[in-house]
Amino acid sequence: MNGFTSDWLALREPFDRAARAAAAATLDLPSLIAGRSAEDGSLSVIDLACGTGANLRELAPRLGGTQRWRLIDHDPVLLNAVAPALAGWASARGHRFEQHGDLLHVEGRGENGLAFAAAVQTGRLDLARDLNTLPFARTQLVTASALLDLVSADWLRALLDQALAARCALLFALNVDGRTAWDPADDHDELVHAAFAAHQRRDKGFLGPALGGQAVEQAALWLGAAGYRVRQADSDWIIDASQPGPSHPAAAALQRAMIEGMATAASEQAPDNEAAIRAWRQRRLALLERSCLRVGHTDLIAMP
Ligand SMILES: C[S@@+](CC[C@H](N)C(=O)[O-])C[C@H]1O[C@@H](n2cnc3c(N)ncnc32)[C@H](O)[C@@H]1O
Repeated sequence: MNGFTSDWLALREPFDRAARAAAAATLDLPSLIAGRSAEDGSLSVIDLACGTGANLRELAPRLGGTQRWRLIDHDPVLLNAVAPALAGWASARGHRFEQHGDLLHVEGRGENGLAFAAAVQTGRLDLARDLNTLPFARTQLVTASALLDLVSADWLRALLDQALAARCALLFALNVDGRTAWDPADDHDELVHAAFAAHQRRDKGFLGPALGGQAVEQAALWLGAAGYRVRQADSDWIIDASQPGPSHPAAAALQRAMIEGMATAASEQAPDNEAAIRAWRQRRLALLERSCLRVGHTDLIAMP
């Protein structure tokens, strides 16, 4: 779970999509973004820590209109996977995809009926070190998905200072918020969750201990204090491996990865409890085909 391989990102993407659809119904993105375009009528977007571009695949059709995206990550393998991932997605959705050298272009119509046309460029950058090299002043929307829980308070403050100075809108999706629930429950769920949450707050390379489940609350506090209008909506993963059907293999695979990832992280964090955590892992794997896991996330949108 900490490696951010394209396999891991692909495993989570359908659950991210379902979670974000639930949040989008509350957040009404097009109306929040309306009127924010640049003089040429396009919307400039920076996607921080883009992975293979899942955030663009989610947002471009929802936002509609003409868009210019800058997709930023430090991992060249993930950045190289952006074009094929966009091409595959466009083909499956009936969108048009073109590549001219480094410039990608995708256009189509979202499920909400809005037409969109997005010009997309990728950029390799260590966001911990070089955040201030990004062109915030020429950007209307700064966004990230599944990033905030990795960053420190200092890094978040630096990001907000720059984005607020440029009056950018902000959209942070899929922020882990600390809620985790299993059905059926196990006596040691809480022990594992507590150790896992503490592990999430270790330094993930963003200038200090990660905010983990506190990130979205901290962001909302600072944005509100700066006079931004903040809206939040739950975007929980619901990983139900107890139901047969077409989505069952994906749910079973993601739930298995979560069990393994939680057990490994919890054991690293609380080695004294290793035997109990190992036993929890075995019971959870045995129960997998009968279990539903809910992982709490929050989406946050903030407007100047
Ligand atoms: C959980 S993944 C999210 C990826 C993508 N936003 C998504 O929703 O699928 C976190 C991303 O942060 C990127 N990342 C981690 N540290 C980074 C850094 N210092 N600079 C830039 N990107 C970083 C990883 O390469 C990975 O793509």
